[in-house]
Amino acid sequence: MVFLNPDTFAGKTVLITGGMGFIGSNLAIRLANLGAQVTIVDSMIPDYGGNEFNLHPVRDRVKINYCDIRDVSAVNYLVRDQNFVFHLAGQVCHLMSLSNPFPDIEINITGTAVVMEALRKYNKDAVVVYTGTRGQYGPSVSLPVNEEAPTNPKGIYEISNLTAEKIIKVYNDVHGIRSVLLRLSNIYGPRSQMMHSRFGVCNWFVRVAMDNQQIQVFGDGSILRDFLYVDDCVDAILKTSICDKAYGEVFNVGNDVAVSFLDLVKTIISVAGQGSWKFAEFSPERKAQEPGDFISDIGKISRCAGWRPKVGLEEGLALTLDYYRQQKQHYWSS
Ligand SMILES: NC(=O)c1ccc[n+]([C@@H]2O[C@H](COP(=O)([O-])OP(=O)(O)OC[C@H]3O[C@@H](n4cnc5c(N)ncnc54)[C@H](O)[C@@H]3O)[C@@H](O)[C@H]2O)c1
Repeated sequence: MVFLNPDTFAGKTVLITGGMGFIGSNLAIRLANLGAQVTIVDSMIPDYGGNEFNLHPVRDRVKINYCDIRDVSAVNYLVRDQNFVFHLAGQVCHLMSLSNPFPDIEINITGTAVVMEALRKYNKDAVVVYTGTRGQYGPSVSLPVNEEAPTNPKGIYEISNLTAEKIIKVYNDVHGIRSVLLRLSNIYGPRSQMMHSRFGVCNWFVRVAMDNQQIQVFGDGSILRDFLYVDDCVDAILKTSICDKAYGEVFNVGNDVAVSFLDLVKTIISVAGQGSWKFAEFSPERKAQEPGDFISDIGKISRCAGWRPKVGLEEGLALTLDYYRQQKQHYWSS
């Protein structure tokens, strides 16, 4: 069991790649509030998930480097003297990866190699946490899916995440750089991009409901997923980062409570008190990449680091709606 004491991260140096994005900014805020010295690396590529406003609550307490993780000299410099490197930067749009695979290959694979090589050369003592995706498994062979399940990803984004994970594992095993390899399910909550529907499905449904529009439920809406509130995801990242037994290990980070898309949409509309829904056909691209039902088996992370989700779906959606109702002007357009 790992306990996150209030002083665990006090005075620690941490580098967060992708720290202006959804999960990275929530992590940065938590760490800054725990007294860590936080440095952010983010390239703010248009249409990706970075948003200046995300770091508003801690803007005077974090250092921000607007640079690309593929910039070898910059990354070589930035990793020095960091106690922790949380590697969250990435091209995250699985739909885009089908029509243009190169950002995934260049950012998610080459960028990861740049970060790990910098650590090998300049800071082998840092602990690394990498956030991959449940999509690395591809279609589920049985449910819930545990970490021993086969990995047959259905898209380039998912392949790039699996490759990045394997690269980091080599640096853990061969070069002794302690690394935790997480596979995240569907994360939702404050600070996600809300401008388009290409990634972040639950957050996008929240926007459509808030705009009092009709949410499109693809197919018959029966596909199962597990949705995890972002604060719980941040807890999982922090708890595994300080857990000796977690180094070199792969963990699912999700929710063992599964929900169909139709039930998710009905819950969002009920919590929001507005919006409506209708069935819609899958687009050919979405259909081709849809892996079907997925439920995370979170037994391994629970046994190793004592982590479990704390926030239920209705509570998480209410918190998400509250945030965007207050801060809508910073998220509805660029
Ligand atoms: N959100 C989810 O549901 C989810 C699910 C599975 C996995 N993940 C993984 O978690 C990580 C974080 O996801 P997120 O939802 O916060 O995404 P996000 O798009 O909100 O954040 C990613 C950040 O990385 C930055 N970035 C992209 N390319 C970069 C580069 N070359 N150099 C520096 N910065 C760069 C972006 O500007 C953005 O701020 C990603 O690796 C993603 O694949 C997320």
